[in-house]
Amino acid sequence: MPHVLNLYSSLNGQTEKVSREIERACTDKGCSVDSVNIRNNESILPLLEPDITFIGSGVYTWLPSKKMLKWIERQLDHARTEGLILPGSPRLSDKFACVYCTYAGPHTGDAEAVPALKYMGQLFDHLGISVAAEWSIPGAFIPEKMQGMNESGRLGNINGRPNENDLKTVYEGTAGLINSLFPLTT
Ligand SMILES: Cc1cc2nc3c(=O)[nH]c(=O)nc-3n(C[C@H](O)[C@H](O)[C@H](O)COP(=O)(O)O)c2cc1C
Repeated sequence: MPHVLNLYSSLNGQTEKVSREIERACTDKGCSVDSVNIRNNESILPLLEPDITFIGSGVYTWLPSKKMLKWIERQLDHARTEGLILPGSPRLSDKFACVYCTYAGPHTGDAEAVPALKYMGQLFDHLGISVAAEWSIPGAFIPEKMQGMNESGRLGNINGRPNENDLKTVYEGTAGLINSLFPLTT
């Protein structure tokens, strides 16, 4: 049974909606799942143990949240101290990551999601864990004073996103990814 680590950072609950869907799909596929909101967990996690780690954050100035940036810094420091970051980052053949973000893209659209995804992915890539998928999911601004940008930004009208359809896409994408990476065990 594949072991899944489902990590996320969520300021206003938008990314948490996606993480719940990932948890549901992985559980339905027969995986064991540990879901961790990094706001409530400051401990160092053994990232080489899970068969796949899903990691997600909202986008803030084209990067993950400050909480997520700090978490990545702590994990990287630990990995360096333990001698886990090797020249060439040799692949661990049976370990994977899936990185995702929720974002509003108010100014430059999709381009705001890309650095956040790449930044989170690099922690795993440095450890030898291949990034098997990258997903960006529209997430509307929740604070009232920012909601005007939900209709005036580069993505058009994103009110109510992530919506039911977005979450169904996440569920199916997660199930498909698990089928693809672990065909003999699910
Ligand atoms: C203070 C603030 C700043 C934001 N800055 C950006 C930004 O620079 N680029 C972007 O694409 N989305 C931005 N957003 C939108 C969030 O990334 C989006 O709503 C996301 O779904 C929030 O996820 P979370 O509630 O899980 O943290 C911002 C939202 C807030 C509240």
